[in-house]
Amino acid sequence: MTNERRLPRVLIARRLFPEVADRLRAHFEVDASDAPDPFAPAELAARLKDCAGVLVTGTERIDAELLATCPQLRAVCSMAVGYNNIDVPACTAAGVLASNAPGVLTETTADFGFALMMATARRVTESEHFLRAGLWKTWSYDMFAGTDVHGATLGILGMGRIGQAIARRGALGFGMKVVYHNRSRLPEADEAAVGARYASLAELLREADHLVIVVPYSASSHHLIGAAELAQMKPTATLTNIARGGVVDDAALAEALRARRIAAAGLDVFEGEPQVHPGLLTVPNVVLTPHIASASLPTRRAMADLAATNLIAALTGGTPPTALNPEALRL
Ligand code: GLV
Repeated sequence: MTNERRLPRVLIARRLFPEVADRLRAHFEVDASDAPDPFAPAELAARLKDCAGVLVTGTERIDAELLATCPQLRAVCSMAVGYNNIDVPACTAAGVLASNAPGVLTETTADFGFALMMATARRVTESEHFLRAGLWKTWSYDMFAGTDVHGATLGILGMGRIGQAIARRGALGFGMKVVYHNRSRLPEADEAAVGARYASLAELLREADHLVIVVPYSASSHHLIGAAELAQMKPTATLTNIARGGVVDDAALAEALRARRIAAAGLDVFEGEPQVHPGLLTVPNVVLTPHIASASLPTRRAMADLAATNLIAALTGGTPPTALNPEALRL
């Protein structure tokens, strides 16, 4: 029998950088998942039973039901910026600190949003499939002719950090006119920095040549873009979604693409992902990627490190830098 005190136990819910697990091992007893797939809810609950903290991604659902089964839990730290998988009020009520990972992925995600918009406007994957299928026989004036990005009107729905980073790319790099819609209007100086003009959602839909969606998912943004909104867009317009599945009604979008109500779409996120609406898999005018907007190795490492920093601070009496409910620590 030794009277050595046991370190608090934490779970890393997904296979992750070994260096991040090592960092946590300096403070905690670490249970690190090495499975490629997420835990099923019952297994997550079982693994969390005697844990004081957990490092999660954007996929683990943390709700009141789960929290009720792990009374020792004090911190849920996510390496994602979007936190619609975490019921923050339920965490606060249970005295559990919740954190996300804003800031560190802004530029990488904006790069990807811009790349997806460009690939969509210039039909990059559609033409690659044609080439790979051995169908390229000659030059033709309208072969995969798309729409211009430079000088066009960039419409941004959701003007947070990532939206503003996309606006900078468009305005400063590609001479685009920027219009945006957001819950609240930006300070004038921030608008002026990228020449962005605030618009109503209806104006945004009407004016955008390229609409990029970066708005967080919540009950109020569910199906914010559906058939009625798609019908207001220009038939030559593109739509790019790097926000969350569910902001766009994927069935309505698949139909709008099939009917050429809009020219094309670029999608990194899907309702019910990793399932993809079958209608989106059969239309040619869509670029599809598997939720990888933040996926550069340095950025994924920075996201995991920020989650670990929050977890260490929350469980060792420090101040988690990106807490969503700092009041939970005082309960
Ligand atoms: C990715 O989607 C994130 O929210 O970080």
